Amino acid sequence: MPTEDQLQEILSPRQIQDRVRELGGQIAADFPGRPLVLIGILKGAFIFMADLARSIPNQLEMDFVRLASYGSRGESSGQVSITKDIELDISGKDVVVVEDIVDTGYTLKYLKDVLKLHEPASVRICCLIDKKERRKVEVEVDYVGFDIHRGFLVGYGLDFDERYRNLPRICHLNPGYTPSAFAPSNR
Ligand code: IMP
Ligand code: MG
Repeated sequence: MPTEDQLQEILSPRQIQDRVRELGGQIAADFPGRPLVLIGILKGAFIFMADLARSIPNQLEMDFVRLASYGSRGESSGQVSITKDIELDISGKDVVVVEDIVDTGYTLKYLKDVLKLHEPASVRICCLIDKKERRKVEVEVDYVGFDIHRGFLVGYGLDFDERYRNLPRICHLNPGYTPSAFAPSNR
């Protein structure tokens, strides 16, 4: 019989809001008065992107991609593909990719390489959570909300099996378990 999930809060709504506002300020300061394109990675980044966008005063265009990756339990692999591409023309524009979590790095490395084919003026990456110690492939992340290494996280857009995205806080799911015990989430 399935037991109920345990959720342990690690980031409160207030902590998240404060940090997201700082990230928005940093991005605005790096591109003073310049238009930007935000590209969110579905689905996990949709709530983060909504808040981040409202903390950047620049003229913004927004778009989304959806990616699929195939991997073994709890981890994505090098095989990433795009299941929903961007619709805006980003050539000659400054792009900021908005991601929920960078883990192995495969997803963002792939996306960054693909976006460069569109010849944008620049591509930067903003992620809410960086699991730096788990990186398998090097990818430069320009803006990081929080460095968190342990456990599987849910809430504020992050899911386990499509559940918990609507939690306003970020929680460690079943802190007694090891992360490898969980199947990978769909982004
Ligand atoms: P990677 O960097 O290619 O390994 O992929 C990172 C993606 O895996 C993130 O965008 C999430 O969709 C998913 N992911 C990694 N860790 C977690 C977690 O703790 N909770 C929910 N999703 C996660
Ligand atoms: Mg994701």
